[in-house]
Amino acid sequence: MIQRIHAPLIQRATEAAIDEAARHLLAGQLVAFPTETVYGLGANAASGEAVARIYEAKGRPRFNPLIVHVASIEAAQSFGEFNAIALDLARAFWPGPLTLVVPLKPGSAISSLATAGLETVAVRMPDHPVARRLLTAVGIPLAAPSANRSGHVSATRAEHVADDLDHKIAMVLDGGPTAHGLESTIIDTVSGRAHLLRPGALPVDAIEAVTGKKVERAALDENKPTSSGQLASHYAPRAKLRLNAVDVMPGEALLAFGSDVMLAEGPVINLSPRGDLIEAAANLFQALRSLDAMNVAAIAAMPIPDEGLGEAINDRLRRAAAPR
Ligand code: TXA
Ligand code: MG
Repeated sequence: MIQRIHAPLIQRATEAAIDEAARHLLAGQLVAFPTETVYGLGANAASGEAVARIYEAKGRPRFNPLIVHVASIEAAQSFGEFNAIALDLARAFWPGPLTLVVPLKPGSAISSLATAGLETVAVRMPDHPVARRLLTAVGIPLAAPSANRSGHVSATRAEHVADDLDHKIAMVLDGGPTAHGLESTIIDTVSGRAHLLRPGALPVDAIEAVTGKKVERAALDENKPTSSGQLASHYAPRAKLRLNAVDVMPGEALLAFGSDVMLAEGPVINLSPRGDLIEAAANLFQALRSLDAMNVAAIAAMPIPDEGLGEAINDRLRRAAAPR
């Protein structure tokens, strides 16, 4: 819960308000800001706990990978690997309503919750004076989904954001109604070709005019596990996962939660020793990856309360535990 004592939630996007927004973001809080597509609910993309607050505020029962917003191509290249086609598209359409999925650079600072544990990252440079000024002022990439509660329509005005997310966010920067009112087009460039993951504000034929080739409709291929949205665009651990474990069997690693941890002979990773769901969400994908890196064959996961962010954590764990 954010304490807003003096300042009003919605503020006209003056220089001073943008500087204040940048301070909130650097302190790990959430700020909604206008882009040319829809309002975004921004958080420091390098902070797992700040990103976890996005899911909490939206009441989203699932962890989807989020779009990371940057002020420049260079900023995007500090954590994303741009091949020839990604660079061509960024140069042609940034700033603008195009999101590119590119490989994540190893060791990048982007939180694994922002990418839902994937080795790729979705990135865009928005074309809106307030978004650009904010990104420059804050100097860090911002993870930002649309600034609405889960299941509601995307917010295209500051008042819609405030109606939906009051008490959950530090501030809404008011830049008036958004120009497109429709999310960015998402293109996966990882294969070296352009795959459409989500149609959006940038028409596909504009992209084809730049690449000189047809954009592939990856989402139509049911067997492609890398597509977004309805398909499995999530990291899944190799190890077998046993849920709601009340004991640890020989050979199992333990994914713990809270202070009351059972004894284990193998590796133990505690998602949150203080039993905090925001901290647990922030650590979830990194913990699964770390256990995989230790080559454990099986993981016993302690029960996580199914409330607040616990719902999304349990959704992820259940899907990781499903037979593959
Ligand atoms: O216009 C927009 O794009 C707005 C404004 C705020 O920028 N943002 C937005 O973000 O729509 P969001 O989080 O609601 O949409 C993220 C989409 C999801 O469909 C997700 O699956 C996809 O991007 N996505 C994110 N990272 C991905 C990745 N690494 N691979 C494939 N899809 C990814
Ligand atoms: Mg949305």
